[in-house]
Amino acid sequence: MIKIAVLVSGGGTNLQALIDAQKAGAFPNGEIVLVMASNQKAYALERAKNAGIESVVVSRKSFADPADYDRVVVETLQSRGIELVVLAGFLSILGKPVIDAYPGRILNIHPSLIPSFCGAGFYGLRVHQAALDYGVKVTGATVHLVNEIPDGGRILLQKAVDVLPDDTPETLQRRVMEQAEWKLLPQAVAMLCEQLEQEKKS
Ligand code: GAR
Repeated sequence: MIKIAVLVSGGGTNLQALIDAQKAGAFPNGEIVLVMASNQKAYALERAKNAGIESVVVSRKSFADPADYDRVVVETLQSRGIELVVLAGFLSILGKPVIDAYPGRILNIHPSLIPSFCGAGFYGLRVHQAALDYGVKVTGATVHLVNEIPDGGRILLQKAVDVLPDDTPETLQRRVMEQAEWKLLPQAVAMLCEQLEQEKKS
C-alpha cells in the first residue's frame, strides 16, 4: 500500500473528492494517511477529521528561515512513511529539499489547461479571472508532477471544460471542479499508486 499525504490550504473540495474515491474503493494500491494544511483555518482540516485521517498544520509563515520550513515538511512526511504527496489546492511553494525528497512523487492539480494561465501568481479564482479576461472559450484542469518550476512538471492528465458566455470566476471555477478536477485527481492518484506499487514489487 502506498502511503499518501494530501497537502491543502483552503476549502478542500479536491481532498473530499479523494476521500470519497478512497471510500468507493478507487485506490486499491494506496491509502491517504495524512492531511497537511498550510494554515489552521483551512476547512480541509474538518474534512480530514470527519474522515478519521490524521492532520497537521505546517505554516511557512511560522518559520523565519525557509530552509527550516522545508526541513519540517520533509520530516513530517517521512516520519509517517509517506511515499506519494498530493497537492490539492495547496498554495505554499515547496522548496528544493522537499522536491528532492520525493522525485516524481509529488502531484499537483491546477485549474487550467497548462501551459495557459499557470505559473507564479496563478492560483484559485485568479486563474479563472485570467481565462475570462483573455476570452478563451475552453479551459479545464491539469494534473502534473511537481518539479522546481511552478506548474512546470510533466503533465499526467488534462480535461477540457467549456467557458460559457455569462461565466463569472466563481461559476467557472465550480464547473472546472465538477467536470474536471474532482475526476482527474482521483484518477491520477490511482494511476500513480499502481505504478509505485509495481516499482516496489519489481
Ligand atoms: C482548486 O481549484 C485547485 O485546482 C486550485 O485551488 C482550488 C482549491 O480548491 N489550485 C491552484 O490554483 C494551484 N495553483 P479546494 O481547496 O476546494 O480543493
